[in-house]
Amino acid sequence: MLASKSVLLIIGGGIAAFKSLDLIRRLRERGADVTPVLTRAGAEFVTPLSVSALAGRKVFQDLFDLTDEAEMGHIELSRSADLVVVAPATADLMAKMAQGFANDLASTLLLATDTPVMIAPAMNVRMWEHPATQRNLEILRGDGITVLGPNEGGMACGEYGPGRMAEPLEIVAGIEAAFASGPLAGKRVLVTSGPTHEPIDPVRYIANRSSGAQGTAIALALAALGADVVFVTGPADVPPPEGVEVIRVETALEMKAAVEAALPADAAVFAAAVADWRVASAASGKIKKTGGALPQMEFAENPDILACVAQMGAGRPKLVVGFAAETDDVIAHATAKRVRKGCDWILANDVSVGTGIMGGTENDITFIHEGGAEDWPRMAKEAVAHKLAERIAAALT
Ligand code: C5P
Repeated sequence: MLASKSVLLIIGGGIAAFKSLDLIRRLRERGADVTPVLTRAGAEFVTPLSVSALAGRKVFQDLFDLTDEAEMGHIELSRSADLVVVAPATADLMAKMAQGFANDLASTLLLATDTPVMIAPAMNVRMWEHPATQRNLEILRGDGITVLGPNEGGMACGEYGPGRMAEPLEIVAGIEAAFASGPLAGKRVLVTSGPTHEPIDPVRYIANRSSGAQGTAIALALAALGADVVFVTGPADVPPPEGVEVIRVETALEMKAAVEAALPADAAVFAAAVADWRVASAASGKIKKTGGALPQMEFAENPDILACVAQMGAGRPKLVVGFAAETDDVIAHATAKRVRKGCDWILANDVSVGTGIMGGTENDITFIHEGGAEDWPRMAKEAVAHKLAERIAAALT
């Protein structure tokens, strides 16, 4: 996710500029703020109106636009973003960048910026393979510029070979990777969180007291270490973490489907309090009170999502972590549970009435792994999350 990241997107003049419209959309979907700059040639391929409509803000085009200078000077504009992306980067723009030209807004911004720059080249295959372009490419790489693509394939001009601009989602992945830092950078971690709601009828459901606080704290702690976190959550009390991909579900069956769709991952942490049972066939209409007769409900067992993932064989995350909420004989039950479910680690906690753990702000963990059990002191759920995230980072690197 790119929440609160700002990208200065320079759109050069090539037929691939149409893909940059989709790139703006994809970046904004992920929470990025996109400031668009359209070169004179770029404006021959896409209109300033479509660019600014998709970006949700003004498009900058001219170096000598006095209004822009009054509002924001070109130097400030060049440094206002976290990342400068040039897509499509034409042969001409690459040449200007390599030689340090500053004769229009885009090249001036690129020369003045002190933020990292990423380019997605797009041009005819002969232009790409020309020694001049290849020389410029080497210079740009040497200057620390990240180059995404180009891809090989058929081109708008009818020729075939390298020169197609990378697809918008490939560029997004490159941008996300550029922002990731920390020991878990480049690692994808799945976290489940919250309770599940199992419907009885359209207005009633079976639930539990999980607030989602521990799972949310874990997702944030992993993201803080640079992980690419996908967060699958039931209807929790606490808001989902910012800056991570959030998938909302209601029932255990929906959670299982969402988890399967989110894999592969390097590690998976199952902090959700998944309901063990669901009503076998939830009523389609509200069940009515009928003169003292009690409704009869048949239950069905929910799939154990943690066990399914821990035992999936090919494609299993390298590290699978579960929780065990117990009310008695915590270590014995949790140790047996680790083996039975096939996960690597279990964070066991005593959720007896009076501990204040379920729905509370603190947790009292016994960390169970292959080698035995380790008592963690009672601490805030955020502190548990950080300790666990550090352990995960150590195990994956
Ligand atoms: O068996 P128990 O519910 O105590 O196991 C708890 C662990 O298993 C937690 O990590 C929970 O997220 C996970 N679990 C699951 N799917 C279920 C039941 C539990 O992923 N149906």
